[in-house]
Amino acid sequence: MDIVDIGQRLGSVAFELSSQPRVWLAFLFAAAAWLMSMPYLRFVGKKLPPGPPVWPVLGSLAYLGGELHHALWGLSKKYGDVMRVGLGQYTLIVVSSADIAEELMRKRDSEFCHRSGRTIQRSAAKYVGFDSMDIAFSEYNPHLRMLRKLCTSELFTLSRLHASAKVRTGELEVLLGNFRKYSEKGEAIEVREYFHSLTMNIMCLMMFGKRYYGEDVPVTAELNNFKSLIIDVFDNVGRLNLADLVWCMRPFDLQGINKKWKQIRGRCEKLFGLIIEEHRLRRIEGKTLKDDKDDFVDVLLSCQASDNLSDKAIIALLSNMVLGGTDTTATTLEWCMVEIVRNPLMMQRMQEEVDALVGKERGVEEADVAQLPYLTAFVKEIFRLHTPVPITLPRLNESASSLGGFYIPPECTIFVNTYAMAHDERYWDRPLEFNPDRFLGSNINLVGNDFQLVPFGSGRRKCVGIALGMTMVQRTLAALVHSFDFAPQPQASISESYLLVLRNSIPLKVEATPRLPAHVYHTTTL
Ligand SMILES: *[C@@H]1O[C@H](CO)[C@@H](O)[C@H](O)[C@H]1NC(C)=O
Ligand SMILES: *[C@@H]1O[C@H](CO)[C@@H](O)[C@H](O)[C@H]1NC(C)=O
Repeated sequence: MDIVDIGQRLGSVAFELSSQPRVWLAFLFAAAAWLMSMPYLRFVGKKLPPGPPVWPVLGSLAYLGGELHHALWGLSKKYGDVMRVGLGQYTLIVVSSADIAEELMRKRDSEFCHRSGRTIQRSAAKYVGFDSMDIAFSEYNPHLRMLRKLCTSELFTLSRLHASAKVRTGELEVLLGNFRKYSEKGEAIEVREYFHSLTMNIMCLMMFGKRYYGEDVPVTAELNNFKSLIIDVFDNVGRLNLADLVWCMRPFDLQGINKKWKQIRGRCEKLFGLIIEEHRLRRIEGKTLKDDKDDFVDVLLSCQASDNLSDKAIIALLSNMVLGGTDTTATTLEWCMVEIVRNPLMMQRMQEEVDALVGKERGVEEADVAQLPYLTAFVKEIFRLHTPVPITLPRLNESASSLGGFYIPPECTIFVNTYAMAHDERYWDRPLEFNPDRFLGSNINLVGNDFQLVPFGSGRRKCVGIALGMTMVQRTLAALVHSFDFAPQPQASISESYLLVLRNSIPLKVEATPRLPAHVYHTTTL
């Protein structure tokens, strides 16, 4: 028998077999099983967390349809509180219970406080995090500790918060004034745009003393540039980047996200770089330092020499603050308004509480909000039911470790599904109901001690701007219900859409009627 003969015989056998579909199926099945087990062969004998099937190349993407936080929540009900999910070539670990979250973020915080530019967020860390020089993407290293220390001891201190109250009051007056204008015209107000302007102006004024939003702001090239950059940032930063997830896609950047991110980084560097230069010049011209009127850039420049803080790090920090401090707050405020128009009795209860404390002859001040228990409970319930950041930023341990009794392979990115915990029947009575009363007389707070409700994270990677964010939300809400009655809309939509933050997918419109004497509006001007 010569070689050709063997070839022919094999060929005919193969032909015969191939005409039987069952054989094909078996073959495909075997190949799939083999490929699927490939990434995990290294961990034979280890107790990996359970999870949905992981397919070659795409991982578990097929099981993650719809809104990501809901998909993960659904899967965790099936697979458990520590779950393994494949995403592209990476393995994610998703935590969905308070005790495991506590193990991760408190008891073993120091083992899991890392983040790495080499994992799933490779391009985000490079472009959005300015080579991991910012707070969100930096590894846990001396640079990050320095940045966090600057935030807690210089930028977000109580005294600086008090000193900047005037800025927030001014912007709040503008917001109330705008609502009033609409009500005089008898028109409904689409609140999103106004909350966005409010939070952007406050953050920009606090960071570098400028405001970009409002009818009174002169239109300049810088203004247009800033606004279009911000739109680009919010539209693009939260996108899922296939070039990061699947190694063989890396050179192609099919979605064009890397290109976009690179552009955004360049524009941020240019814009914030100019602002830093302006401040530097002003300082050389002899403006006093460490004055309460200084904005963040002034403070950071004065720390620059002693703290080894590069311009790039300042730019990264400013961009983090825009990302972390504006849309989150504006979105939370919009959810507050949604629940107000859906629950007129709750609005009334807040109004009675504010009236009793403040009266009707002056506006609400920041110091007032500490004495409004029902309003505080209402805001907590908003953070619970409409978790603005449903999935925390990732944590990671570069070597192999364990969590909740499971083996965690090296370099697994760990996420906490705060949304799932905040809606879990194990922790909350009738979790899908909006009911602020559940927080009255309860000690649960939002600062990261009660792990069933950690909207700001906890431990070494906790959000640094909690006090500022909470102040802005509570005071704005108090001022809104104090100043206006809002027409009920029992059917107002609460459907969610998630990209970076969890928004109401249908922008809310409200009808406001002033309820204070005319002279109380506009008591403060900017
Ligand atoms: C990673 O986890 C292991 C085991 O839990 C621990 O010994 C190690 O210190 C952690 N690595 C870091 C960098 O903290
Ligand atoms: C200053 O920071 C840079 C980068 O963050 C680092 O490479 C350098 O070693 C630091 N210098 C000192 C004196 O700490």
